[in-house]
Amino acid sequence: MTDLSVSLGKLQLAFPTLMASGCYGSGEEYASFIDLSQVGGIVLKSVTRWPRLGNATPRLVPTPSGMLNAIGLQNPGIDWYLEHEVRKFADRPCAIIGSVAGFSVDDYGYITERLARRKEIAAIEVNISCPNVASEGETFACDPQLTKKVVELTRSVTDKPLIVKLSPNVTDIAAIAVQAQDAGADALAVINTVRAMSIDVDAWRPRLGNIAGGLSGAAIRPIALLAVYEVARAVRIPIVGQGGIETPNDALEFFLAGATAISIGTANFTDPRAPLRIVEGVRDYLQQRNLKSLKEITGKANVGFSNAHQYEGDEG
Ligand SMILES: Cc1cc2nc3c(=O)[nH]c(=O)nc-3n(C[C@H](O)[C@H](O)[C@H](O)COP(=O)(O)O)c2cc1C
Repeated sequence: MTDLSVSLGKLQLAFPTLMASGCYGSGEEYASFIDLSQVGGIVLKSVTRWPRLGNATPRLVPTPSGMLNAIGLQNPGIDWYLEHEVRKFADRPCAIIGSVAGFSVDDYGYITERLARRKEIAAIEVNISCPNVASEGETFACDPQLTKKVVELTRSVTDKPLIVKLSPNVTDIAAIAVQAQDAGADALAVINTVRAMSIDVDAWRPRLGNIAGGLSGAAIRPIALLAVYEVARAVRIPIVGQGGIETPNDALEFFLAGATAISIGTANFTDPRAPLRIVEGVRDYLQQRNLKSLKEITGKANVGFSNAHQYEGDEG
């Protein structure tokens, strides 16, 4: 029997597949397409302290091999969320992971404490790709000190597993990862979307209402893979790899780079059965090689790193 279960700190997942935040709701719409007991868990849409209407439209734009989004964290705010939404998650047959977003360090502590108290929530993902209003809009995930402060505070308000979600829009993602780990993160989600834009050449204006957005899908997969690889070499805690995973082969690349689990986002929009397809393919791969569990391949593209002398960053 091939064991596909994985642990992210104290969070046990029957399958290594999470559904990425903002791409799966709470699973309700997908339940008629796939058996949710066959996915590891669902990361809910990020929730903020106050309700947010989100950005001006258009908010989604297809691009070659991917898509741009600038939703603007549209959500009903933590009060409404706790009162009306969270109880609906009690009967989901997989782990439900809350996602917290904030515009101040204090926001993160406040929302995490309230959300993590709920029994329906198995773990918290901390989405630090948000601007800090106290430091002229600098993104938390781009500053090691801000990352540390957010993670220390969220760590102090809950014992539930904390997954800190890192941004690729930084110079040295491994340095940020180490700060998050040392401040108490149980796991890291690597990566969030890549900043990007698209222009309509007939209208002479950006296609997104917000001008800039986050690129996701296959276009960012090689970027995400290198980020996972570099973070895995720098930390001891598990990594949830994500960014353009569409096929079993994509998932295997992430496991070999050092991911313990993976998240699937954009692929769900075109193929709701992608999570099942990916798990089946990964299982076949392990069985064909007589491997008993994912542990046998996790980070194996990293082990020894005997050609380290050849690795001096990119050539460009
Ligand atoms: C429409 C959309 C909404 C998203 N909303 C969130 C969000 O609220 N919080 C968050 O942490 N990530 C959000 N993400 C990022 C995804 O969770 C994921 O990290 C990213 O898209 C990369 O994975 P993918 O290429 O498989 O989609 C969103 C992505 C998309 C496409």
